[in-house]
Amino acid sequence: MTGSEVLKTRAGAFRHEHLDTVQSTNSELMQRARNGDPGALWLTASRQLSGRGRRGRGWMSERGNLYASLLLIDPAVQSQTGSLPLVAANAVERAIAASLPGLTRITSIKWPNDVLIEGRKVSGILLEAERLADGRLVVVIGIGVNVSICPDSAPYPVARLSDYAAGADASMLFARLFETMSEELAIWDKGAGVSHTVERWRRAAHGIGERITVNLPNAQVRGRFSGIDDDGMLRLETDEGTRMFAAGDVFFDN
Ligand code: BTN
Repeated sequence: MTGSEVLKTRAGAFRHEHLDTVQSTNSELMQRARNGDPGALWLTASRQLSGRGRRGRGWMSERGNLYASLLLIDPAVQSQTGSLPLVAANAVERAIAASLPGLTRITSIKWPNDVLIEGRKVSGILLEAERLADGRLVVVIGIGVNVSICPDSAPYPVARLSDYAAGADASMLFARLFETMSEELAIWDKGAGVSHTVERWRRAAHGIGERITVNLPNAQVRGRFSGIDDDGMLRLETDEGTRMFAAGDVFFDN
């Protein structure tokens, strides 16, 4: 059996459901897991009424963009799930890059999992996890991609896919994402392949070597972004020495 046949078989293991309107594809899938859904389910929606972003922010969710979440149950032992944001970012970056024929190397990933086109955010990813009463771990990977509309006010530069690929649409992008996510999950292999995941992430990384500010809930730390370690933590060279971050919002100083 060739590698691609294996990947196709694995891709086929995921179900997909589309809804016109939902509060949040992430919240809907978390609720379904609590109600007994076995997982490996993609949910997409044409619009969300309460789309959520990271750090309690909202996510603009009008018709025209991609809103997709993937429900995984016990994707790996808990110690390995910290690298799932990198898996998701790799998958989204590849799906977007594949939607830009003829435009090479204009997509990148800003730590940990924002996907950029020419340095401007085109996609955000929100991972949420919860333990079920029976001890199983639910992980929901939520992905929003600006396909034909951009938020009006964002604290960072934004992009939309349709400015680079005429006729881009959410369902075409989702078909690519369905494949790339299956492939990146197979490479990650429940955490056993994390070194491959990290290596793939590094190849797409935005701004290694540049000066950044890491915004934390109660502090800002400045330094030079020198890369990520083998668990996906951000390495920052500050005047006081090297610091590692598991979470935070990164802004490039320029
Ligand atoms: C971010 O703040 O960058 C993450 C944004 C994640 C948005 C997506 S849209 C699909 C899924 N459902 C949600 O409510 N949020 C995520």
